[in-house]
Amino acid sequence: IKKIIIDTDPGIDDAIAIFVALQSPEIEVIGITTIFGNVHTTLSTRNALHLLEIAGRTDIPVAEGSHVTITEGMKLQSSGYVHGTEGLGNQNISPPKGKPIEQTATEFLIQQASLYPGKITVVALGPLTNIALAIQLDPGFFKNVGQIVVLGGAFAVNGNVNPAAEANIFKDPTAADIVFTSGADVLAVGLNITHQVVLTDSDRGELAKSNGKFAKYLSKLLDVYFDYHHTAYSTRGVFLHDPTALLAAVNPSLVTYSEGVVRVQTVGLTKGLTIFYNKKKRYDEVTEWCARPSVKVAVTVDAPKVIKLAMER
Ligand code: BDR
Ligand code: CA
Repeated sequence: IKKIIIDTDPGIDDAIAIFVALQSPEIEVIGITTIFGNVHTTLSTRNALHLLEIAGRTDIPVAEGSHVTITEGMKLQSSGYVHGTEGLGNQNISPPKGKPIEQTATEFLIQQASLYPGKITVVALGPLTNIALAIQLDPGFFKNVGQIVVLGGAFAVNGNVNPAAEANIFKDPTAADIVFTSGADVLAVGLNITHQVVLTDSDRGELAKSNGKFAKYLSKLLDVYFDYHHTAYSTRGVFLHDPTALLAAVNPSLVTYSEGVVRVQTVGLTKGLTIFYNKKKRYDEVTEWCARPSVKVAVTVDAPKVIKLAMER
């Protein structure tokens, strides 16, 4: 069974992804690493510990990640309007009993990848800072890590923080560029995929009625997320970004992908833009692009099956 580390900024869709992971017999979650994004890193850590307590899985270690971006001059901005001010709806969370482990997220990632070479899948559900740091600090990391499944990017579609950029890439674009050009086995699941994966109001109604382990908790959490989508997209449904990436790691046949080079714009108006190039041809103007290692970019998804699996689990 696959060993998974979830790198996350919980986050309502992160919470769903974590619970889906814990209910997935095909995988073993061997750790959670935290990162800023939807909230600051300290709150991400608290939220991760909280979710594991709710799930009764305090045996899973939580390693706290970076508090700062690799990209210079970035001001961290939380996404309270999407996920609630503290990331998990607007519930009052009492301080968790557990604590993060001594190791930082990056130390934990490096250690686990070298302990189990080729066997770990990192599911990255927030900005890619911790993973880029692991790549920078350990020259063997990109080979030791089995696969990195990234929820991030918007491939040939608009972003969600602005027309150019998807949130996870936007919040540390240099880190994302490091990961995409590292030579690691990366599968990117972007908005071109996740905007097809919509959990409807009636799905939420089913969760509210269900006696499933996490169903009622999540149906309440989803209020804020539904409100945001209603305002931003005029829909009565929400995108299941992070659960889609998680399920693609659990069950690779849920997506198809194309292979090529991904580069990230790190400055200016289009900061966070992800460009995918999958042509073989090497005319002079694209040599620099083609010289970079390829990654996988998801191009189709079995959306009904993703929703079905997420609901079941
Ligand atoms: C990503 O940004 C965050 O708000 C979500 O948790 C998801 O990881 C979607 O762009
Ligand atoms: Ca997330």
